[in-house]
Amino acid sequence: MKKKNVFVCEVCGYTTPKWLGRCPQCEEWDTFREMEVKKEEKPAKAPTIKRYNELKEEADERIKTDIEEFDRVMGGGLVPGNQVLIGGEPGIGKSTIMLQVADAISKKGNTVLYVSGEESLSQIRMRAKRIGFSGENVFFSSEIEVESIEEAIEKASPSVAIFDSLQTMKIYEIPSVPGTPSQLKEVTQRLTKFCKSRNISAFFLAHVTKEGIIAGPKLVEHIVDTVLYLEGEKNTSLRILRSIKNRFGSTNEIGIFEMEEMGLKEVKNPSSFFISESTLESPGSVAFPHIEGNRVFLLEVQALASYTPFGTPRRVSIGIDYNRVSILLAVIENKLGIDLRTKDIFINVVGGIFVRDPSADLPVLLSVLSSLRNRKIGPKIVAFGEIGLTGEVRRVTDAEKRLLEAKKLGFELAIVPPLEKTKKYGIELKEVKNVKEAVNLLFG
Ligand SMILES: Nc1ncnc2c1ncn2[C@@H]1O[C@H](COP(=O)(O)OP(=O)(O)OP(=O)(O)O)[C@@H](O)[C@H]1O
Ligand SMILES: [Mg+2]
Repeated sequence: MKKKNVFVCEVCGYTTPKWLGRCPQCEEWDTFREMEVKKEEKPAKAPTIKRYNELKEEADERIKTDIEEFDRVMGGGLVPGNQVLIGGEPGIGKSTIMLQVADAISKKGNTVLYVSGEESLSQIRMRAKRIGFSGENVFFSSEIEVESIEEAIEKASPSVAIFDSLQTMKIYEIPSVPGTPSQLKEVTQRLTKFCKSRNISAFFLAHVTKEGIIAGPKLVEHIVDTVLYLEGEKNTSLRILRSIKNRFGSTNEIGIFEMEEMGLKEVKNPSSFFISESTLESPGSVAFPHIEGNRVFLLEVQALASYTPFGTPRRVSIGIDYNRVSILLAVIENKLGIDLRTKDIFINVVGGIFVRDPSADLPVLLSVLSSLRNRKIGPKIVAFGEIGLTGEVRRVTDAEKRLLEAKKLGFELAIVPPLEKTKKYGIELKEVKNVKEAVNLLFG
């Protein structure tokens, strides 16, 4: 019988029986590589079936690292046998955070095995020294071949194993180089099976790839229990650990960190991290309560509108979707009758967070108007609300949570969409139905 092969996109893992020039899923060019489809061997033993009440419930004995931001994203700690994928751009801090996690777990008396195929043991030692690592119960290995790694696991018999990174590890029998789709899939499958059967929790690190023959973490997301991504802008120190999938917890959690010389430091109170009263005194600056996962914290949006003699004015937005900004500027022109043709407009969400929450519409619009009129909104005022194409200010989720956080931080007035129930939040509320009302309220 003819051997059956498929073509797999190295970027997103899309599979097709024919070679394609461009991936229909992720729309990248020239990313398909041929892979052999292995015939699964038939299991020798008879299948077992059980009734619901015969199923055993495992005791929830999570290992806590006491790095709160990390434990929360994991769903309250690490479940024994949990297989976790940690993805992220190269250099974002994956190895650093895992070294910190290894240290924390070891301090609790658990044995950890850190397998590094990426860096030499002396490189790891240098980083460990920099971040104040003491991990007595952490073993290191620089094996890259799965069979040797399995032996190292047997030898160390750890509670937790860390594989840094998947893209450097290989199975000897597979002819392709480490990091190719076939290697990545097989290595992950084999190591997860190996660790799971021994109730060892494992972390698999993988960097996000855009081109070339090295496959990215997307390809193996389905194999593991939990998928976390470490995100952040390279030029800022802010890092967000986000859960994309979690069989042992909610995916609504994020962990916020700051990259420092000593490693990743938890940002326990993000509101005070992002908000500064002094800049809120300037025209163009507006505070808003932002929701990310289950957390609410205050952010600041800044706008700068400046005169341009050129026919095509510039529109720049950082930290917020460009299309959303275009809609808001069109609403300003159309519903408020303000001509923006001679204005360059720059918008920035302070701190390096990318805001996807539509509740930032109203603050963005107000920041543009505040800059245009050169009138400050002030450090004691917050605003939130989605803006529709007819200029209406629409309700958003979790208004109560947002108001309570603003109150906690000493804000005195909130400009909000019409609320469902008018409760007292200890902060003065001004409900606005449309952008005209909001503008009249602030700028008269
Ligand atoms: N002395 C230092 N002070 C502050 N930050 C540092 C220092 N040295 C390194 N860093 C930060 O650590 C980052 C590298 O972290 P790390 O090696 O953990 O990333 P990574 O995600 O594992 O990268 P890779 O994909 O290359 O393995 C650097 O990009 C830099 O931001
Ligand atoms: Mg690394």
